[in-house]
Amino acid sequence: MPSFRRNPTTIFKLLAAFIVVTFYLILRGFSGFGPRIRNEPQQIGASIQFEGWKNGSGVADEQRAGRVRVAMKYTFWKYREYAWGFDDIMPVSGNGGTNRNGWGAFIVDSTTTLALMGLWDELELAVDHIIHSINFNTAISDLVDPFETTIQYLGALISLVDLIDADMVPESVINNTKRDAILAQAVTLANKLAPSFDSPTGMMWPRVNFYTDTGALSPNPLSGPEASTHRYSGHTIDPARAGSNILENRVLSRLTNNDIYFANATRAWAPLVWSPYITPWKGMVDGPINILTGEPLGRERHWDAGHGSYYEHLLKISLLAPHDRYTRHYQKTWLSAAAALRHNISQRSAPTDLHRPQHLFMGKQDGQWFLNEQSHLACFAPGNLMLGGRFLDHPNLVSLGKALLEGCHHTYASSATHLGPEIWSWLPQSAPYLSNATFTPTTVRHTLELAENGFWIVNPTFRLRPEYAESLFYAYRITGEQRYRDWAWDVFVALEKHCKTRFGFAGLKDVMGGGDDGWWIDEGLESWVTQSLMYLWLVFEEVDVGSLDRWVYSTEGHLFRMIR
Ligand SMILES: *[C@@H]1O[C@H](CO)[C@@H](O)[C@H](O)[C@H]1NC(C)=O
Ligand SMILES: *[C@@H]1O[C@H](CO)[C@@H](O)[C@H](O)[C@H]1NC(C)=O
Ligand SMILES: *[C@@H]1O[C@H](CO)[C@@H](O)[C@H](O)[C@H]1NC(C)=O
Ligand SMILES: *[C@@H]1O[C@H](CO)[C@@H](O)[C@H](O)[C@H]1NC(C)=O
Ligand SMILES: *[C@@H]1O[C@H](CO)[C@@H](O)[C@H](O)[C@H]1NC(C)=O
Repeated sequence: MPSFRRNPTTIFKLLAAFIVVTFYLILRGFSGFGPRIRNEPQQIGASIQFEGWKNGSGVADEQRAGRVRVAMKYTFWKYREYAWGFDDIMPVSGNGGTNRNGWGAFIVDSTTTLALMGLWDELELAVDHIIHSINFNTAISDLVDPFETTIQYLGALISLVDLIDADMVPESVINNTKRDAILAQAVTLANKLAPSFDSPTGMMWPRVNFYTDTGALSPNPLSGPEASTHRYSGHTIDPARAGSNILENRVLSRLTNNDIYFANATRAWAPLVWSPYITPWKGMVDGPINILTGEPLGRERHWDAGHGSYYEHLLKISLLAPHDRYTRHYQKTWLSAAAALRHNISQRSAPTDLHRPQHLFMGKQDGQWFLNEQSHLACFAPGNLMLGGRFLDHPNLVSLGKALLEGCHHTYASSATHLGPEIWSWLPQSAPYLSNATFTPTTVRHTLELAENGFWIVNPTFRLRPEYAESLFYAYRITGEQRYRDWAWDVFVALEKHCKTRFGFAGLKDVMGGGDDGWWIDEGLESWVTQSLMYLWLVFEEVDVGSLDRWVYSTEGHLFRMIR
C-alpha cells in the first residue's frame, strides 16, 4: 500500500520551491522586469492637500488666475525685448544684468512658471535658448556660486524635465530630442559644479573656479548672503549653504541613473544632520560653520536667512523620497527643529494698547540673546510648517504655521503700499524674551510705527520676494480657506499698482512710501517676481495643478515629482 506520508526531503523541496516562487513574485511586483517606460514611473503620493476638495470643489478662480498670467506675459516680453540673454533686466532703466554667471538666469529660472501657466510660445523661446545658446562650461566670472547655481539653474532644468516626463508640456512644444538636450545641459552643469564637493568635510565650497575646476572660498565675505557672518572671517559658511542642495541632486540621480550626485549631496550635509557638536536645542544647528572641520564658530540659531532652507530641505527630501535610508532621521530632526522654533524663537508681540491684536513673529537666537527681528525671507517657514504638520500628522504645527503667516500678513496689510518690508522688529510679550531682547525702537518713526502697528520697520525695502506668496499657496492648498486666496489677491493688486514699470516690475525703496519712480529700485529681481507670480497664480488655479500630493517645490519654486 503506497504511503501518503511524504518523506522529509519531498516536503523540504516543496517548501523551497514555494519560497523561490514567492520571492520571484515579490521581486517582480517591486521592480517590474522589462524596460522602464518613462511616463509610468513608480509614482508615490502623499495626502497633503485639503480633504474637502475630494468632492470636486476647489475650482479655479479663472479671472484672477488670468490676470496673474497676463502679468507673467508682460514680464517675459519686456525682458525678451530689452534684455534677452542677460541674467536680469533692470526694471527702471531697462539695462541687462549679469550677476548670475551670465547664462541668462531669467530664462532658465522662469521656465517652470511658463510651463505651469501653459505659455507655450514663451517656453519654446526659452528652451531653444537653453539648448543652443548657453555654455555651462564657462562663466562670465570664473568664480561661480554652487549654492545659488544649484537651486536656480540646475533646479529649473531638471524640474522642466520632470514636467515634460509628467506630460505637462505638449510634444509639439518640447519633443523628446529637446527633452534629452535639456537634461544633458543639466548634467554638464552638475559636473562643472562637482569640485564644490571636494572640501575636507564634503560640505560645498562657497565657490567653484570654473577655470581651474577647483573649489574656492568666497572672495568677499562682506557681501551677499555671507554678509551677516562677516565677523567670523575665514572658512565660514551658513548652514543653508551646506544643507540646501539635496533635492536637486536626488532628482538628478534619478533622471540619470547615476547615484553620485545624491551620494555627494548626502555627504555634504552630514556635518549638519549628524553633527557631533552638541547644541542647546535638539534638531537645530549653530552657525556659522567652519567648512574645514564642521565645527560651529558662532551661536546663531534660527529659521531665518542663511539657516532656514536647511530645515526646509530636511522635510522636503523626506517627502520627495519617503523610502530612503535616512528619511526617518530627517523627519525626526525636522520635528525637533520645528519644536524649537515653536518654543524658543516664535514670540507674540507685546500689546500696544488693549484694542489692538497681537501678532506672532519669529526671531533668532544668538548665544544668550534673543534677536527680536524677522526678515521677509523667513516668511517661507509658515508654509513649510503647514506642509510638515500635515505630512507628519502634527496639526499643532499647521496651527503654528497659520499664526506665523498671519504675522507676515500683518506686515503687508499695515503698510501704506500693502507690501511687506524686508526686515522688522517687535517687542516680545513675555518676560525672559523681553528682557533679553536685543533691539528697541531708536527713531521717532520706529516709535510711531510700534504704537500704530505693533512692530517697527528695520529695513523698509520691498524686493519682490516670493516667500509670503509661497506660504499663501501652501496655506490655501492645505486648509482650503478662502481668506488665503483673498490675501494673495491683495498682494497681486499691490504689485501691479506700485511695482509695475515700463520694463517689468521693480522693488520699492520704502513700503511706507508711494509707488512711483521716486520709490523704485533699479535692481534686477525679475526671477523673484516670476516666482512670486507662479505662487500667486497657483493659489487661483484649479487645485489639481501642481498638487502638493504629487509634487515637491524647491526653495527656488521649481517642482519635482515624488517618485521612488
Ligand atoms: C465639498 O466640500 C466642501 C468643504 O468641506 C464643502 O464646503 C462643500 O459644500 C462640499 N460640496 C459638495 C457639493 O458637497
Ligand atoms: C524635435 O524637434 C527638432 C527641431 O524642432 C527636430 O530637429 C527633431 O528631429 C525632433 N525630434 C523628434 C524626436 O521628433
Ligand atoms: C563627488 O564628490 C567628490 C568628492 O568627494 C568629488 O571629487 C566629485 O567630483 C564629486 N562628483 C560629483 C559628480 O559631484
Ligand atoms: C528651548 O530652550 C531651552 C533653553 O536653551 C532648552 O532647554 C529647550 O530644550 C529648548 N526647547 C526646544 C524644544 O528645543
Ligand atoms: C536671558 O539672559 C540670561 C542671562 O542674562 C540667561 O541666563 C537666560 O537664559 C536668557 N533667557 C533667554 C530666554 O534667552
